[in-house]
Amino acid sequence: MCGIVAYIGKKEAFPIVMKGLQRLEYRGYDSAGVAILNGDLNVYKKKGKVKDLLQFAKDKKVNGSLGMGHTRWATHGKPNDVNAHPQQSGDGRLALIHNGIIENYASIKEALIKIGHTFESETDTEVLVHLIDEVQRQDNLPIEEAVRVALTKVIGAYAIVVIDKKDPNKIVAARKGSPLVIGLGEDEFFMASDATPLIEYTQKVVYLNDEEIAVVNRSGDLQIKTIDNKIQSPFIEELNLKLERFEKGDFDSFMLKEIYEQPKTIADCMRGRMSAAEGWVKVGGIEASYERIINARRFIIAACGTSWHAGLIAEYLFEELARISVEVEYASELRYRNPIIDENDVIIALSQSGETADTLAALELAKNKKALIYGVVNVVGSSIARMTDSGSYIHAGPEIGVASTKAFTGQVTLLTLMAIHLGYAKGTIPRSYYLQLLDELENIPKKVEKILEKNSHIKYIAQEIKDATNALYLGRGYNFPVALEGALKLKEISYIHAEGYPAAEMKHGPIALIDENMPVIVIATNKSAYEKIASNVQEVKARKGKIIAIVNEGDQEIRKIADYCIEIPYTDEPLTPLLSVIPLQLLSYHIAIMRDCNVDQPRNLAKSVTVE
Ligand code: F6R
Repeated sequence: MCGIVAYIGKKEAFPIVMKGLQRLEYRGYDSAGVAILNGDLNVYKKKGKVKDLLQFAKDKKVNGSLGMGHTRWATHGKPNDVNAHPQQSGDGRLALIHNGIIENYASIKEALIKIGHTFESETDTEVLVHLIDEVQRQDNLPIEEAVRVALTKVIGAYAIVVIDKKDPNKIVAARKGSPLVIGLGEDEFFMASDATPLIEYTQKVVYLNDEEIAVVNRSGDLQIKTIDNKIQSPFIEELNLKLERFEKGDFDSFMLKEIYEQPKTIADCMRGRMSAAEGWVKVGGIEASYERIINARRFIIAACGTSWHAGLIAEYLFEELARISVEVEYASELRYRNPIIDENDVIIALSQSGETADTLAALELAKNKKALIYGVVNVVGSSIARMTDSGSYIHAGPEIGVASTKAFTGQVTLLTLMAIHLGYAKGTIPRSYYLQLLDELENIPKKVEKILEKNSHIKYIAQEIKDATNALYLGRGYNFPVALEGALKLKEISYIHAEGYPAAEMKHGPIALIDENMPVIVIATNKSAYEKIASNVQEVKARKGKIIAIVNEGDQEIRKIADYCIEIPYTDEPLTPLLSVIPLQLLSYHIAIMRDCNVDQPRNLAKSVTVE
């Protein structure tokens, strides 16, 4: 949610900043801006994507070795040139980029207007830069001190970078609630919302903590202070990220690349955590807090969006395999309730980005109530990963497409490993079933590959239903959350309205919508409820709905009724989501492409939702 990049050093800043913004564009893409300091402070801003800004700045003065840029996902004020960042102080001396929301901006703005400030934009960010300017002028403070004092007056979330025309050898940054990472090069520094823009220059980084301010300068100095003025020693971490993981390679989109990566990412998630041949599974995060986890009264899973769907699958897994009582909560709801949580509970946060503001806030709440906090996260070093008591990375690698695909299957793989580990440790699954599940799990990557080979058949079905205005996804048991996920994928990238339902719930309402124009995608791979799902399919057929069924190889019965079938290999029921979601991802992808939609950057969305 908004991408920030900054550079100070000996190289030209503009190309570094622009390239960085393109890498961060998945965080927001409604407008972009850049500021380059070279005697003058040149600021260029444009509604639209980074490529529009590049075009706009083509003939402008962009040379200079200190600069910063921003790609925006609008919160306050519509996406246009004026509301784009950087925002500047009234005299144009300070420029600031911001990711987050200043909640008390209205009262600050009112006070500043009273003393003569005027504002051009509708943003909370412009208010913040005016406030810093005001504080600086009143007490003639250096820029870093003015930023610090101003931030003590601010309520909200922010990652900011500030430059001062009168202080041309430094950049100041601060964070609270929104991420910021500093890259350390040879006589140069980089700053960014995540490590993506930095890794082609350096693998040495410092993650700024909440309520910290960093100052970097040309002489190679990095200083970090807290907002209440305590000096901190920077903790330098070494990344191990390869550039090609951030590029599309031979694929037309990141989304398709990430769908195709799943055989590998699922295998990577299992690597070192299990061996079917040797009959063991071990999830390090569980081992680290074993007693509290094994004796937990219940698990509470907090997540948003696709991660929440993975959480719903985990509810089935933990209950069935480990007999642990589970509640799955939207983090945005949990954080504002007064939930009954105590030290006997384990809160599992699921998050690809590890930065989702609502999930972070729900964790804070649970932490204050003394629950054990467990993170299942993809982005290494992210805020959630750093605040948990224990946890596991899913090792899916960078997910750049805004619609989550490989992170979902990574989360489900990890949660399955956890459930099998706990089930066996608690004696709630017999050894024979335990070994069978491990064996099946190890075969999942190959089975996913087999489903990916059906791409052209899935594309053909997409062609048949691409003009629909509504779609219904049905599933039961483990496949009910997959139905929700299939519907979410379709709506977010193709803008077709879609709903996911437990198949049996259809007759309690949604059946009223079914006619010959309504595609109904039914996941019918459950052995345990096959007959019941077959009846649901009959009910749809009787109302002339167009049925697309996901069935197991060799299916006989549903094949006779469905208009189109996609066969997937058989696996044990707890593992079916890892297979049944793949054709749904591909179906959404093809429909979106056929409707001429941008699958990697769907409208109004952003990858990492760091605001409420
Ligand atoms: C959907 C999608 C979102 C995210 C949600 C949570 O494809 O990507 O629904 O799943 O915003 O994000 P994380 O997992 O980063 O907390």
